[in-house]
Amino acid sequence: MSQLDKQIAVVTGAGRGIGRAIALEFAAAGADVVCVSRTAANSEKVAGEVRALGRRAWAHAVDVADPAGVAAVVEKILADPGRVDILVNNAGVTRDGLLLRMSDADWDTVLNTNLKGAFLFTRALARGFLKQRSGRIINVASVIGLIGNAGQCNYAASKAALIGLTKSLAREFASRGITVNALAPGFTETDMTVGIHDELKARVRDSIPLGRFGRPEEIAGAALFLAGPAAAYITGQVLTVDGGMVM
Ligand SMILES: NC(=O)c1ccc[n+]([C@@H]2O[C@H](COP(=O)([O-])OP(=O)(O)OC[C@H]3O[C@@H](n4cnc5c(N)ncnc54)[C@H](O)[C@@H]3O)[C@@H](O)[C@H]2O)c1
Repeated sequence: MSQLDKQIAVVTGAGRGIGRAIALEFAAAGADVVCVSRTAANSEKVAGEVRALGRRAWAHAVDVADPAGVAAVVEKILADPGRVDILVNNAGVTRDGLLLRMSDADWDTVLNTNLKGAFLFTRALARGFLKQRSGRIINVASVIGLIGNAGQCNYAASKAALIGLTKSLAREFASRGITVNALAPGFTETDMTVGIHDELKARVRDSIPLGRFGRPEEIAGAALFLAGPAAAYITGQVLTVDGGMVM
């Protein structure tokens, strides 16, 4: 039997990068996957890749920060496939800048996407988890939420808060058999980091004991662990997957 046999997972930000890797890793492990992304073409494409692995897939396009949009998508999910076992709150953005130059819009976009988006999806799906007395919630935070970063106060605040949300919900849901954990990836090769200039990349690489950026598949492997049977007794934890950068 595969690790996620008969499980249904919702992955936000599944259109590319880490979210896409998680959707495909879960599908390879036997799960059916609801692919949620901002861009319809991307979520459709990844849903197609999930189907190519022999699993069922659904594609939805929504801004996770939009309460009405999230409510509408969750209503569709609860109609078909009708049940959710695993939620991965992965959608996230950066709008970097030093504090004195940071606009209200850049602050709000990052907090609303990275933090409120996870709150909205979790709240909308929690009733089902509580009723079935099982569920896995995985929030994709970041090492930046643990150690901070100059020029990323909005992003660091959103990810630190996501860790606070994770621990609070882990306590709130534990008696119902639902686990809530966070992943804290280090620097990972995706569209999010592709724009970092070479000098900074080299400096970051020097701070990583394993001497390289992570690959999306390596973050997905940790997500699979947290979603699978081996992590049944783990809740409220932050698993760093960062080549040893934070220890
Ligand atoms: N790449 C890294 O180095 C790194 C490190 C630590 C944490 N992370 C986190 O991992 C997650 C995935 O990042 P990635 O590197 O794959 O980035 P990415 O930019 O490649 O992908 C982000 C995904 O989130 C979706 N998304 C963004 N805003 C959205 C919104 N408002 N509504 C719906 N979907 C939205 C995008 O459409 C995209 O599919 C993010 O939460 C990010 O903060 C990334």
